[in-house]
Amino acid sequence: MWIFQFSLHTARLTLAPFTPLRSLHGRHESVMTTHLTFIARDIVDVTSTATQCAILPLFHGGALSGTALELDRFSSGAISAALALGDFTAKAGEILMLPGVGVSKRILLLGCGEAKKFDRAAVRKLSQHLYRALESKQATEATLHLAALELDETEAAWMLAYLARHLVAASYRYSKTLTKPKEPWKLNRLVVNTSGALRARKAGDALREGRAIGIGVNEARNLANLPGNICTPAYLSRHARKLARTNDKLNVTVLEEKKMRELGMGALLSVSAGSEQPAKLIVMHYKGGKAAAKPYVLVGKGITFDSGGISLKPGAKMDEMKFDMGGAASVFGTLRAVMELGLSINVVGIVAAAENMPSGSATKPGDVVTSMSGKTIEVLNTDAEGRLVLCDALTYAARFKPATVIDIATLTGACVVALGSHASGLFANDDTLAEQLLTAGTQTHDRAWRMPLWHDYQEQLKSNFADIANIGGPGGGSITAACFLSRFTEDYCWAHLDIAGSAWDATPKGATGRPVALLTRYLLDRAGQ
Ligand code: BES
Ligand code: MN
Ligand code: ZN
Repeated sequence: MWIFQFSLHTARLTLAPFTPLRSLHGRHESVMTTHLTFIARDIVDVTSTATQCAILPLFHGGALSGTALELDRFSSGAISAALALGDFTAKAGEILMLPGVGVSKRILLLGCGEAKKFDRAAVRKLSQHLYRALESKQATEATLHLAALELDETEAAWMLAYLARHLVAASYRYSKTLTKPKEPWKLNRLVVNTSGALRARKAGDALREGRAIGIGVNEARNLANLPGNICTPAYLSRHARKLARTNDKLNVTVLEEKKMRELGMGALLSVSAGSEQPAKLIVMHYKGGKAAAKPYVLVGKGITFDSGGISLKPGAKMDEMKFDMGGAASVFGTLRAVMELGLSINVVGIVAAAENMPSGSATKPGDVVTSMSGKTIEVLNTDAEGRLVLCDALTYAARFKPATVIDIATLTGACVVALGSHASGLFANDDTLAEQLLTAGTQTHDRAWRMPLWHDYQEQLKSNFADIANIGGPGGGSITAACFLSRFTEDYCWAHLDIAGSAWDATPKGATGRPVALLTRYLLDRAGQ
């Protein structure tokens, strides 16, 4: 829960988890959090408020106004001089650190580029530059003056949400398996002087949202970055329990293989058949809404390593298949953000966790398995395993009488071919849900692009020996994969996000934490928050 103090001129936000977890602050922290606190104020007097760094964002070609003028006067014209000399032109990402005056130790001019090109991508860049500038001075606290930008309320709100998110995300360092991780410098506090652009309360909400998303994104990145020998299905189930210990509203149950067999989850179990690691179906209930309110269900593909199974993948870059639980990681990350925000809705997170390995007990091409739905599946390629674990998890999801079900999966290489890494592939059996997700993606710059689920494509999944085949041939691979899933989701409002391209970056190699921002925004909208 948050300590949320609000007074006329100040909205103060600090992190205070329900149960303080000692491990949260350890070097190998596994449940992500941040040291960064945001404070929004309506008015900050630059002549009397002490700060290690006064940050002044400026547009290219813009004039100094409001607090910017005050700061300029206070520094005997140092800012206008830098502009007049051309030492600082406020190009996007440009930084100029001026020596401070009086109670401000430094003044940091932050270039925001042209006002008309000021979008989410620009704010992301700007946040990263700001983070690096503060790091270079090891500043542990700073004050941001919004005045000179002259943004309207809506712009200021998204800018702050976005800034908070990216400052938190910029502080993430992978450390789990490094013997000498660099002890990171820590930015502890950012005061935002809204100078009338928007009310401190609204600014506080925006900062709180961005901060929560940043924490969720880092949570997802950290899990997805873990190697397959550490991050096994059992590790993910322990992690879920750990998460539940930090929050009263989260309850976790884990279905073991025995239980899954009783439920008839032959598709899911066919994937773990070749592995020494037993599969786990992790079910996390977040109860923030009324008991009777229908939950939003998130289902994550949690293949902790995808070797391809008997249909073994080629060796090159096979290490990247440790990221094949990116969908599961985004479910954890989104729940982390939801808890941070204390959303008043019910959410069920389901993670279908398994390792896909070849061995004498592994499923073979041509094997026919029976799914929980009763449908039989011919496994023509054991590397198309994501849909096999997901179809049983999706059948299981129906028991929660969901408002909507969204599955998130690094499902197909074909999606990377179609959309690259900028957009997640979106498939849905409901236009309203599709629109809501697309909008959430645009608003958070965590974008998705809708793809067709036309019946014509279903033809490609015909099998001579079972009700359905698990691959659909060479054309439209991401679509036929989604079509496969659609056979198991006919009874509810469903969407599928193929994040094979968006969940990680190739250089430098690492998880992106997508689509935590999109999903959190979608849930914020559902909660009316
Ligand atoms: N996990 C992969 C998909 C993937 C590939 C994700 C590359 C990220 C980058 C998935 O399990 C897979 O192997 N899919 C196959 C499906 C095919 C056998 C029909 C693929 O995309 O090649
Ligand atoms: Mn595969
Ligand atoms: Zn896979």
